[in-house]
Amino acid sequence: MHAPRHQEKSRPAVVYLDNNATTCVAPEVFEAMVPFLTEYYGNPSSAYSFGKLVEGHLAEAREKVAALLGATAKEIIFTSCGTESDNMAIWSALQTTGKRHIVTTQVEHSAIMNQTDLLERMGFGVTRLPVAADGTLSLADVENAIRDDTAIVSIMWANNETGVLFPVEEIATLVKKKRLASCDPKKGPFFHTDAVQTPGKIDLRHVASSDIDFLSISGHKLHAPKGVGVLYAKKRTKVVPYVVGGGQERGKRGGTENVASIVGLGRAAELALEKLSDEQTRVRAMRDLFEEALLARLPHIYINGKRDQRLPNTTNIAFDFVEAEAILLKLDLNGICASSGSACTTGSLDPSHVLSAMGLTPARARSCVRFSFSHYNTEADIEFALKVIPPMIEGLRAMSPLNADHPDNFAYDVEAAREKEEKLMAETMAAINE
Ligand SMILES: Cc1ncc(COP(=O)(O)O)c(C=O)c1O
Repeated sequence: MHAPRHQEKSRPAVVYLDNNATTCVAPEVFEAMVPFLTEYYGNPSSAYSFGKLVEGHLAEAREKVAALLGATAKEIIFTSCGTESDNMAIWSALQTTGKRHIVTTQVEHSAIMNQTDLLERMGFGVTRLPVAADGTLSLADVENAIRDDTAIVSIMWANNETGVLFPVEEIATLVKKKRLASCDPKKGPFFHTDAVQTPGKIDLRHVASSDIDFLSISGHKLHAPKGVGVLYAKKRTKVVPYVVGGGQERGKRGGTENVASIVGLGRAAELALEKLSDEQTRVRAMRDLFEEALLARLPHIYINGKRDQRLPNTTNIAFDFVEAEAILLKLDLNGICASSGSACTTGSLDPSHVLSAMGLTPARARSCVRFSFSHYNTEADIEFALKVIPPMIEGLRAMSPLNADHPDNFAYDVEAAREKEEKLMAETMAAINE
């Protein structure tokens, strides 16, 4: 059996190539948090100095997170996670505008997909925009979807499965133009972006000077702990609480702040800015080398998503004629962590909604694996993965009933699959009508 890759005391023995699912807590982040789990346990809302001291550190963390977005501290609302931030932006816009229509896409994370599904069942209108085969979005489609009763347009910045980036700043400007042209600009539409996958991977310091009204961040995607998130709300944008309770977060989010995690997130935001160039260069180079090596070594593999419009750390690869679940199982046996689809949908037998929206056949979509790197990955990790993966795919293909050369195998050709299905359907109907 293969020897574990990482033998550091504090980490399990894995080659972790699933950084879009979650990330390790950076040692500097952990160090910053410890005093707030031990010594400084005061409630930041308490009036005495033991509480005030903690409040001061909360304010410092808020400044650090604001700096990541080029924003001011007052524009930062701490939440419990990215999902809550997403839900809050949409809920708040529906409440403040009194309007009942949402524009979003077919490829959002389940935080938005399932919330908008629920709102639809409650009688709200939802337009879910399609994407092209390379995962990109048409600006004209966004423009045409906005109606007089649209409260909010919510479009993710970077797709968690493919890494494809949407031109959210352009979309935000378009939404603002529509708002200013409407009879009551206070009533929207507003623009929200789920930017959970972006901090530390792309530069966000121009967010506050853009037309983005709301933006979501999650701590555990940028080497801070799980259970803390941020909703950025542009100054003068009205916000109503989604979690209703005490007057914390200037009355915008009830609940005593998760101080230690917020302090950790502040430190993680600083580190994300420091490591940005590493992500753009070394991590991108690792990802590109990984893709090129696999493409050179294996036939019938495809990279999903527009290659020059992606996060630098993500690759989503279709390994035709093999089931992703089999690949993941074998990777796991070798200590390599990767995933098919989002961690929140693992276990579902349905093919990824993102890859399906891009037009992949169910068979190809079920053959796709996402690898996502971080600056904690080393060249040795990539070398090891490249040693393991090609023979593993060849072995699985040799056993696969989905034989590449079978004359009847249309599973990977959308047009042929559709034609075959239509022919079958016509024959069935003819038999019924006979
Ligand atoms: C794009 C995107 N949005 C939202 C979330 C949800 O974030 P959290 O796990 O903090 O609720 C995730 C997590 O995978 C994500 O990738």
